[in-house]
Amino acid sequence: MSQDIIFAQSADLESILISEEELTAICDRIAREINEHYRPLVEAGEPLLVVGVLKGSVVFLADILRRINVPLQIEFLRASSYGRSSTSSGVVAIKHAPAPELIAASHVLVVEDILDTGNTLYKVFSVLREQGAKSVKLCTLLDKPSRRQADISADFVGREIPDAFVVGYGLDYADYYRNLPYIGILKPEIYSK
Ligand code: PRP
Repeated sequence: MSQDIIFAQSADLESILISEEELTAICDRIAREINEHYRPLVEAGEPLLVVGVLKGSVVFLADILRRINVPLQIEFLRASSYGRSSTSSGVVAIKHAPAPELIAASHVLVVEDILDTGNTLYKVFSVLREQGAKSVKLCTLLDKPSRRQADISADFVGREIPDAFVVGYGLDYADYYRNLPYIGILKPEIYSK
């Protein structure tokens, strides 16, 4: 990745919250936990479907997928509530989801970048359960428990974080900063413009 691009975007950060080295360690640990949890199921002939929630999960998903060593299928789901705003609208729209027959036949592991108010994942879980998934579990890179509104928790958590506006490694503000290779805290003057 061009260092110029990284430099220009990193100037908008107050500080780096999670370094590349720490992200690597988090991915190693999370993948180990996922492998340990799902190996017995998969060895018993049960199908595992990993569902990435677009767009924020893509970088994290790509990194943990290559460390998961049980057979699985991959699908994507598009949920959106923030748009270009810095705060959630609370209204979660599911714009694209895997085929209902596939969901009904699978143990589903949802992969997210961040669990914040929980409204997005609450809606996603409702849809997956309505469609008869054999089980539904959540893996999230970041968890902000202080902001939770919906009754939802994650099964695999990368790191709990304080209530700060974080970007990078898939997380955005107005669709930018997703390509930063670490997670940083955005300067308030950027999102309160
Ligand atoms: C972000 C993030 C989660 C959700 C978490 O998605 O990726 O899906 O918000 O917030 P919540 O717990 O308060 O619901 P966003 O709607 O911004 O779309 P994006 O993934 O394309 O960035």
